[in-house]
Amino acid sequence: MAKIENSIMIVFGASGDLTQRKLIPAVHSLGCEGLLPERFHIIGISRSELSDNAFRNRLFSGVKEYSRSDPKVCSLWEGFGESVEYLRGEYDKQETYDALNKRIQDIESNDRKNYNLLLYFAIPPDVHETILKHLNRSGLVGSEGRKVHIVIEKPFGRDLQSARELNRLVHESFGEDQIFRIDHFLGKETVQNILAFRFANSIFEPLWNRQFVDHIQITVAEEVGLEHRAGYYDHSGVLRDMFQNHMLQLLTLIAMEPPAVFEADALRDEKVKVLRALNKCSDVVLGQYKGYLEEEGVAEKSKTPTFAALKMFLDNWRWKGVPFYLRSGKKMKRKVSEISVHFKSVPHMLFGHSVNGEDVSPNILSLCIQPDEGMKLYFEAKIPGGSMKTRTVKMDFSFSGGFGNDILPDPYERLLVDVMQGDASLFARSDEIELAWGIIDPIIRRQENGEIKLFTYETGSWGPEESSLLVSSEGREWFVCCCGVNGEQPEEKDDAGK
Ligand code: BG6
Repeated sequence: MAKIENSIMIVFGASGDLTQRKLIPAVHSLGCEGLLPERFHIIGISRSELSDNAFRNRLFSGVKEYSRSDPKVCSLWEGFGESVEYLRGEYDKQETYDALNKRIQDIESNDRKNYNLLLYFAIPPDVHETILKHLNRSGLVGSEGRKVHIVIEKPFGRDLQSARELNRLVHESFGEDQIFRIDHFLGKETVQNILAFRFANSIFEPLWNRQFVDHIQITVAEEVGLEHRAGYYDHSGVLRDMFQNHMLQLLTLIAMEPPAVFEADALRDEKVKVLRALNKCSDVVLGQYKGYLEEEGVAEKSKTPTFAALKMFLDNWRWKGVPFYLRSGKKMKRKVSEISVHFKSVPHMLFGHSVNGEDVSPNILSLCIQPDEGMKLYFEAKIPGGSMKTRTVKMDFSFSGGFGNDILPDPYERLLVDVMQGDASLFARSDEIELAWGIIDPIIRRQENGEIKLFTYETGSWGPEESSLLVSSEGREWFVCCCGVNGEQPEEKDDAGK
């Protein structure tokens, strides 16, 4: 790993949840593993009235609760707490940026060192423009002798037009190589493993196409609901919150061509090609869980979808005609994120029927993103005994079993290191973001115009009944390996839910 240069991380929106639950716990784990630069400071900025000490205490309670490294075991915070400071300020006042400049100069002159700057936007998009303009004026961005990287949290815009506008604005001050549009799914080990699995093995890739694959499913189901985020969520809904970013990112990784080299632009060029090939999505089922309207902060009669299932096609040589079924929702039966590749049936079956009198099952390869990180390959095997009957069995790889890691690194750990090293491979490029909005925007518009019905669904279910029809009308079924076909059976009972 390249050496990381001394850095100051400046967090806008520092009093928010993300800073306490994700960013600082990740920084803490990095420090405990010796992955922070020799000198590392944090300046948190927000509008809340907080002393340095109150801010540090708040962050430390986040570290205790959420960091992968236990502060009782790793003593990093004892000295590190001193490198964390808080700046209260209004984002639209020049004095905030003057004060920030002064703090940076103080750190640099005390240490007699130059620092790179990592500007982290953990704030809602409506203040992006204000901050960017002030940063520009303050001279911080273009200052000589240091690298300045900017990290922008999702949502990156709220539709295609606003995303374009935001890209234009950021590009006024930053080159694309300085901009890191974060999608934390890309920092998940299991998501990065999609690339390793596909391109570090030779046995799967020859099958990875329309000739052998019947269809692909991507499920990201959550048990949680709004978690006090109604103000944001009710204006976003599942299409903006999950599909424009995480779901389409998963799809690009599973469908892309191998890049020639593992470098940011080569990788993103291939992902962009997938997004360009994505056909207009006409099959959409939207749902809202029962009780959503009673949640605190949700608008009366809100039509915000909390569940969506889409059927999409890619118009290219590899995937033409292969359906990609994507679904994600809140308050569903299980927390499970998974991609399953469903292979075609054998062309001619020699062995009659399987034990339950059902047809022999086609092979399924499940990439389990979370919570049971691993991979499972389902295939038919002969049932020992006199007759030639088969049953579905599985090969099972788990990250914990294979690598002995009970807790995988948090995505933010990996992504923060990448930002400090200037590696944008796991971040979305401007064209990628805009293409993704170009796919999701028309669906949102159709829904807002009343062209797509909003169904309700029971909490603790797999979404509205109609989402099953989306696949079953074509003789297919939703599948997640924890719960088998249609999520009805526990896996342990009878492999692959058969
Ligand atoms: C976030 C969404 O980006 O991802 C949340 O805003 C969602 O609504 C979360 O709950 C899911 O992430 P994870 O890592 O918990 O699966």
